[in-house]
Amino acid sequence: MNFMETKIRKIDKNQIDEKIIEEAGALLREGKLVAFPTETVYGLGADALQEEAARKTYEAKGRPSDNPLIVHIADYEDLKKIAVNIPPETDMLAAHFWPGPLTMIFEKSDVVPYGTTGGLDTVAVRMPVDPVAQALIRAAGGFVSAPSANTSGRPSPTTAQHVEEDLSGKIDMILDGGTVDIGLESTILDMTVSPPMILRPGAITAEMFEKVIGPVDVDKTLLSEDSTQAPKAPGMKYRHYAPKAKLIIVEGDLREEILAIRQIAYEADRKGQPIGIIATSETVPFYNHGIVKNIGTRENEKTIARNLYSVLREFDDENVDTIYSESFAVQGIGTAIMNRLEKAAGHLRIPASEIVKLQKYRKVTFVSGTDSARGPMAAELLRHCDLKQEYVINSRGIVVLFPEPANQKAEAIMKSAQMTLADHSSLQFDGEDIQEDTLVLTIDESQKEKILSEYGEQDNVFTLNEFIGDDTEIPDPYGKPLTAYGECLEVLDKLIKKLADKLNSLMEEEK
Ligand code: TXA
Ligand code: MG
Repeated sequence: MNFMETKIRKIDKNQIDEKIIEEAGALLREGKLVAFPTETVYGLGADALQEEAARKTYEAKGRPSDNPLIVHIADYEDLKKIAVNIPPETDMLAAHFWPGPLTMIFEKSDVVPYGTTGGLDTVAVRMPVDPVAQALIRAAGGFVSAPSANTSGRPSPTTAQHVEEDLSGKIDMILDGGTVDIGLESTILDMTVSPPMILRPGAITAEMFEKVIGPVDVDKTLLSEDSTQAPKAPGMKYRHYAPKAKLIIVEGDLREEILAIRQIAYEADRKGQPIGIIATSETVPFYNHGIVKNIGTRENEKTIARNLYSVLREFDDENVDTIYSESFAVQGIGTAIMNRLEKAAGHLRIPASEIVKLQKYRKVTFVSGTDSARGPMAAELLRHCDLKQEYVINSRGIVVLFPEPANQKAEAIMKSAQMTLADHSSLQFDGEDIQEDTLVLTIDESQKEKILSEYGEQDNVFTLNEFIGDDTEIPDPYGKPLTAYGECLEVLDKLIKKLADKLNSLMEEEK
């Protein structure tokens, strides 16, 4: 294909510059390609009634030519020129949802070339609400075919910059009208069957149709992995909207999803191959590993729809080869969000519970008498171990009257081993520390007895010796010279390494 100069024209939808529209309309009438904003995604416009223009569209996108284009109109009366046998419900649907993010499929009239419909006898028609789109359609003669203005297979463009990334040098003009409103392609409703059938979910949902014309069908292949049945919209069969990295959807309840993604991100960092994470405003703070992107707020899923494709594109600039995404409830706009995510993921998904069930404990708390030397030393030693799981590691004391820094000799001996207790402040053990996700390890038998007598039988409280099956006594250096602290560190170091092995093997056993 020849390289051409792509003109980029900024245009304000609240104050449309007619000269720019006239220039763009003239290009379309000459059979050339102009990308333009719509409320859903940017479209790659061409004259829908010129066979040759459709061919150019497929070439620029690198799109299989059996994948039909949507014809965009600006005036409802124009529908009759390109569609025949229009069913009566169409008026009601148009009255409610046009102009807007709805595409309807009808039998085509003879004026629509097969190039535009990918050889089908039906035509997809949409009337966008974006004023730039409407003005352009009128300037072009009324019928503008427009697939999403991305390279085939890539995420659809929601900004003019996305279009530029994909199509610069391959098309004649880009109208830059800023960021789109909805961010996901229109809902496609097949009007050639009764009741009408949703072939692609979008901002207009099944529930919204139902209120206007009663129940509609939904193409069953949309959310299923069953690839033996082809979706009815030819375009839905391709792996789509795909980032360069592998995308995997983590499914479960949100808490489990977060725990699972945290674990995956932690493991990946250990291997020096950070993962990408698609998170939400509500969940971003829970991730401390990986490259985390906020896709929007769960309180308003429209924000998620709007950001989805740009987040997928942003990951292309990051050095990650796998992206994990939280999932969203399949209702309202969530249906369309999950549909696009599933397609971007090529239906790769993992149940969060599979990963979470490997994690018997999430916290390890060491308990000593005063939480000033052996407990904090053990905790710090464990923090330096290579663990397959990320634990919250703490220490507590049985008798802590007020918070105090670590014993100075303990700190001195830790420093000599390139560790520090500088951040430590002693804390009293209490009921909060005994939750079931916490492994409580006491330094001496006496602290275990104290805990059990106070809180009753617990199956997550052990002495350190007992838990790792090693009865090497942990000497108490309190009041003794520095060398005693050194001996204590030596013993603890051995025991904590065993503890790390034991914790790591716990994860293996479950696998
Ligand atoms: O929001 C949108 O619909 C955007 C903007 C630009 O309007 N356009 C868009 O077009 O998403 P495209 O080409 O990326 O997706 C069109 C989808 C494809 O899945 C295609 O197979 C399906 O519509 N389609 C088009 N004509 C069809 C027909 N006659 N029968 C069944 N499916 C059809
Ligand atoms: Mg597309």
